[in-house]
Amino acid sequence: MNAPAPLGLLAELTHRCPLACPYCSNPLKLEDRADELDTTGWADVFRQAVAMGVLQVHLSGGEPASRRDLIEITRAASDAGLYTNLITSAIGLDADRLGRLKTAGLDHVQVSIQDTDPTGSDRIAGYDGAHGRKLAFAEAVTGLGMALTINAVIHRANIDHLTTLVDLAASLGAGRVEIAHAQYYGWALRNRDALMPTRAQIDRAMQELDRLQARYAGRLAIDSVLPDYYARRPKPCMGGWGRRSLNITPSGLVLPCHAAQTIPGLAFWSVRDRSLADIWTHSPAFEAFRGTAWMKEPCRSCEFRELDFGGCRCQALAIAGDAAATDPSCDLSPLHGRIQALAQQAAAEQATEYAYRGRPMRTGVAPIVS
Ligand code: SF4
Ligand code: FES
Repeated sequence: MNAPAPLGLLAELTHRCPLACPYCSNPLKLEDRADELDTTGWADVFRQAVAMGVLQVHLSGGEPASRRDLIEITRAASDAGLYTNLITSAIGLDADRLGRLKTAGLDHVQVSIQDTDPTGSDRIAGYDGAHGRKLAFAEAVTGLGMALTINAVIHRANIDHLTTLVDLAASLGAGRVEIAHAQYYGWALRNRDALMPTRAQIDRAMQELDRLQARYAGRLAIDSVLPDYYARRPKPCMGGWGRRSLNITPSGLVLPCHAAQTIPGLAFWSVRDRSLADIWTHSPAFEAFRGTAWMKEPCRSCEFRELDFGGCRCQALAIAGDAAATDPSCDLSPLHGRIQALAQQAAAEQATEYAYRGRPMRTGVAPIVS
C-alpha cells in the first residue's frame, strides 16, 4: 500500500545508560558503542527525514547524554529544520551542558522521574543519588526558560504516589506530565511479576487522575491512558504501524516501533545501506503490518480497525504468540481473558526483586560524558 509521510522520528542515539530501569524500552540485547552511527550519519538521517515530511525528532537512548557529540547531533537536527525533544534521565547533564544544547537549537526537554520518594526512585533506577540530580536538572531546564515534560513510568511500587508525582511535576514548572504505565515487552515483560499493579490500585489511580485533571486544568497537561492489561480496548500503538513515526537504533536499523525486534521473522533495513525514504516505503518490516490488509478476524471486519489498527503488534506477539493477532487487550479478542488472568497472576506474585537492565546496583557519581 502507499506509505503516508511520517511525522516523528525517535533517534536512539545510544543504548548506553548510567541507569538500569527494569522496564527499559531498549531491547534485551543492547547494541554496542562501537556500532553507533557517528555525528555525520545522524546529520544525514535528519536531512533525509525532513525531506520525507518529518517534523520532530526525539533524541533518546539509552541515555543520549552518554554521547560526547550530543550538542553537535542536536545542532544537526535543528539545522535540518526539526523540532528537537531531548528524552533524558538527566544523569550526565548539568546546567552548563544544557545551556550549550539550548544554543545548539534544543527546543524541549523530557525528564524521567521514577518516583517521588528518593529511595524508591533510586532503587528502581538502579542508581544511588539519581533522584536528586533529576530534580536539580529539571529546575535548570525551566530556569533557562525551556519547555519541560516530566515522564513517569508507572508500576506497582509507585502507582499509589500519583498525586505527589503530579504535584512534583507542577512544582518543577513542567507544562506536561506523562503518566506512562509500563509496557510489558522486553525488559518489563521479564519483570512483569515485580511491576504489575493490582486491579484495586488501577481503580484508585484512575479516580485519582480524574481529580488531578480537574485540579490542574489549564495549568498542567496530564497525559495518561489505562494500562493495556486492564483495558477494554487497545491503544493505536505508534498511531498505526508504519503510519506516523519511525525509530532508528544506535547502529542505524530502522524500526516501526521500539519493540519490533521482538517479532521473529521481520528483517530490518539500515540507513547505512539504503535511503530512509526507501526503507520507510519498501522495507518488509514496515510493509508487514501497515494499513489493515494483514488483519485477521475480529479486527478485519471491525468498525474500529482504522482507529486503533488492531492495537499493538508486539503485545499480540507477547501474549498470543502471533504478531498478526488482535491485541489481547481488546475485549473482542478471544484471548482477552488470558491477558486479564496474566495481570491478576502477575500482581498476585508480589515479587519484589528486579532484573535490572544488564547490571547490578551502582553507586557514586556518573561522569558528565562517558
Ligand atoms: Fe480494534 Fe481489532 Fe479490537 Fe476492533 S477487534 S476494537 S480493530 S483491536
Ligand atoms: Fe511494537 Fe506496539 S510496541 S507495535
